[in-house]
Amino acid sequence: MKPYITLGIETSCDETGAAIYHSTQGLLSNALFSQIELHKKLGGVIPEVASRSQLEKIEPIVTSALEGANITLSQVDVIAVTHKPGLPGSLLVGVCFAKALAWAQQKKLIGINHMEGHIFSSFLENDVPFPHLCLTASGGHTALFLVKDFGDYELIGHTEDDAAGEAFDKIAKLLNLPYPGGPEIEKRAQKVDFIDPFNYPRHNPKSLDFSFSGLKTAVLYDLVKRKQYDMKTKQLLSDDQELKNNVASSLLVCIGDIFAQKMALALKKYPEVKAITFVGGVACNKYLRKRLNTIAESHHLPFFFPSPQFCTDNGAMIAFVGNYKAAQEKFSDLDLDILK
Ligand code: KG4
Ligand code: ZN
Repeated sequence: MKPYITLGIETSCDETGAAIYHSTQGLLSNALFSQIELHKKLGGVIPEVASRSQLEKIEPIVTSALEGANITLSQVDVIAVTHKPGLPGSLLVGVCFAKALAWAQQKKLIGINHMEGHIFSSFLENDVPFPHLCLTASGGHTALFLVKDFGDYELIGHTEDDAAGEAFDKIAKLLNLPYPGGPEIEKRAQKVDFIDPFNYPRHNPKSLDFSFSGLKTAVLYDLVKRKQYDMKTKQLLSDDQELKNNVASSLLVCIGDIFAQKMALALKKYPEVKAITFVGGVACNKYLRKRLNTIAESHHLPFFFPSPQFCTDNGAMIAFVGNYKAAQEKFSDLDLDILK
C-alpha cells in the first residue's frame, strides 16, 4: 500500500483541533485553539458560545495544521472528523467543514467517534500492547474499555451520571475556584500533601461503573453541616483557604481511590491484559497517574498516559484513528451526520 496522509479534525466541545498524520512518518503537525479563556470568564462551557468560536477558528486551525506539516490540501488523501459524541453545534462545525473539503477536493471522508480518539491517544507516543485496559476520564466522559486491537474495543464500565472532570469542575465552582476545576483542585491538594480529612463516600466497590454526582452532594452537605455554605443563597460563607485546600485534597484522594479500586477490579476480571492506559483531560493529573501506576506495578504491567497536549481534546488523536481506519477501508459517505 502506498503511503497516505490523513487530516484529522476535532470540534466536539470547546477545542478546535486539526492535525496531519502520515501513514509511515507518523504525526507531522498538531494545531489547536482552546476556548478555555473564553469559558473561564463564563464559569463553564456555554454551548452557543462554543459553537460560534468553533466557526471562527476552524479554517485558520486547519490551515495551521497544513502549514505545520509543510503540505497543501491537495496532498491530503483522507479527511477524518469527529462526528460523535459531543455538543451538537460544535460537532456540526467540524463535520460540515470536513464534508465541504472532501466534496470540493474529492477526498475520502471518515467519521470518527471522539471516545475512540481518546482510547488510542496513548499510541501517539507509545506502542501499547493489546489487549489492554483503558480508563478514559474527561469533562464529558468517564469509562473503562477493554482494548483488543485498532478499532476493536469493548465498554466494560461507564459513569451512571457525571464524568470525573465534571465533578472536579462542579465542586471547584462550589468553592468559588476558577474553571476548569481539575488543575486547581490538584494544585490545592498538593499544598496539603494529599491528606483526606473529610473521607467522602466511595461508590459501589463491586461494580465497574462509576458515579460522581453523589460526590458533589456529599461535599455540599458536608460544607452546610460545617456552616460554611448557605443553601438558600447558594453561597460559600467563608473564604478559608485551608478549608478549600482540604476539600480539594479529600476530593482528589476519593477519586484516586475510586479509579484505583475500579482498575484493580477490572484486572481481576480481565487477567489477560498486557497494559493499562489512562487518557482524557483528567489524565493530566499527576496524583491520579501515580495511583494508577501503583496498581499497574503491583500487577507487573506497563502503564501509559499521553502527554498533556494529547490528554485534552486534540486533532492528533482523530488523525491517528483516521489513519488506521483508512487502512481498514472504513470510509464514510458524504451524508455523514452528527450523533449526540
Ligand atoms: O478531555 P478534555 O479536554 O475535554 C472533554 O472532552 O471533556 O477534559 C477536560 C476536563 C475538565 O473537566 C478538567 O477539569 C479536567 O479535564 N482536567 C483535570 C486536570 N486537567 C484538566 N482534572 C484533574 N486534574 C487535572 N490536572
Ligand atoms: Zn474529550
